[in-house]
Amino acid sequence: MLEKLNEIQAAALEALKSVADDEALQAWRVAHVGRSSPLMQLFKEFGKLSKEERPAVGKRANEVKVALEEALAERGMMIKETELAHSLEEDHLDVTLPGRPLRHGGLHPTTQTLRRILGILAEMGFQVYTSREVESDAYNFQHLNFPPDHPAREMQDSFYVESEGRQEDDPLLMRTHTSPGQIRAMREFAAADPDNPPPIRISLPGMCYRYEQITSRSEIQFNQVEGLAVGENITFSDLKGTLSDFARRMFGQDARTRFRAQHFPFTEPSAEMDVECFLCGGEGCSVCKKSGWLEILGCGMVHPNVLTAGGYDPRRYTGFAFGMGPERQAMLRHKIEDIRYFWGNDARFLEQF
Ligand code: DAH
Repeated sequence: MLEKLNEIQAAALEALKSVADDEALQAWRVAHVGRSSPLMQLFKEFGKLSKEERPAVGKRANEVKVALEEALAERGMMIKETELAHSLEEDHLDVTLPGRPLRHGGLHPTTQTLRRILGILAEMGFQVYTSREVESDAYNFQHLNFPPDHPAREMQDSFYVESEGRQEDDPLLMRTHTSPGQIRAMREFAAADPDNPPPIRISLPGMCYRYEQITSRSEIQFNQVEGLAVGENITFSDLKGTLSDFARRMFGQDARTRFRAQHFPFTEPSAEMDVECFLCGGEGCSVCKKSGWLEILGCGMVHPNVLTAGGYDPRRYTGFAFGMGPERQAMLRHKIEDIRYFWGNDARFLEQF
């Protein structure tokens, strides 16, 4: 029987040599180590052996079984490897190539600047108040003390929204600035206590729209951040102090500012604030057009007519307001020469921030 076992082992191993794929391997397994294989059949005949013979044959039979199973596993591995090698060749798949890098998203430069501005204003006590983008003529112009013939109200300058059924003199339009939010906010605050409206300190961020020729310097949509402070005893010094402090927090502790007289319908007096050019330190460069100063925002004391429209009695309350453009600030800071990049969705531009 030992002789028989050797023959079985030799025959099985010989047959295994020609096994080249998975299917053949399974067939070999059934034929040589399966239940009805010669080896397993032999186990059944152990009963016929004498007591003396049995241990040696049993030991040998187990050895053969283990040897065949090991050979089977080894052959299996070999087949897998050759199959992989083949598929690598045929599919031209190079598993050693580095993976495709995942592209990281990032915040848009406007969003970054917007958040910075709002963060600084929040530290200074200005709470964010969001107002609507579709406004009425009344809020966008009339309550802000624009005279009826003001050029900004021309069809050429604003995007009017179809507004059937509205009064002819109060059509809807896309807001041309964030200032109408001042009226909405004042009215909302005043409504809480009409006889004693509470003081206000808010920032109003958001998208504005103007019907303009798109050029490197002007876009039809852009962001603004408006600021409004209303209370008793608020003076022009408060405006200057607050905005100068804002400039230092935004552009650096050494940032110098200057105020120039300007005109806006909704403030009186009105001004524009410049900061010393942070690119050339005031010496004069292409960004500040050799002037050494950069115009950053418009501001002024809230016009009595505007306070009244908001429900605040101008004999008791005063206030200041300001408005600035985050895109403009981002352009100055990063020397971006064309405002159209902001909406161009060109990853090569966006990736730089
Ligand atoms: N609304 C003005 C604009 O769009 C900006 C502005 C100027 C806002 C002066 C203000 C202000 O609140 O006081 O150009």
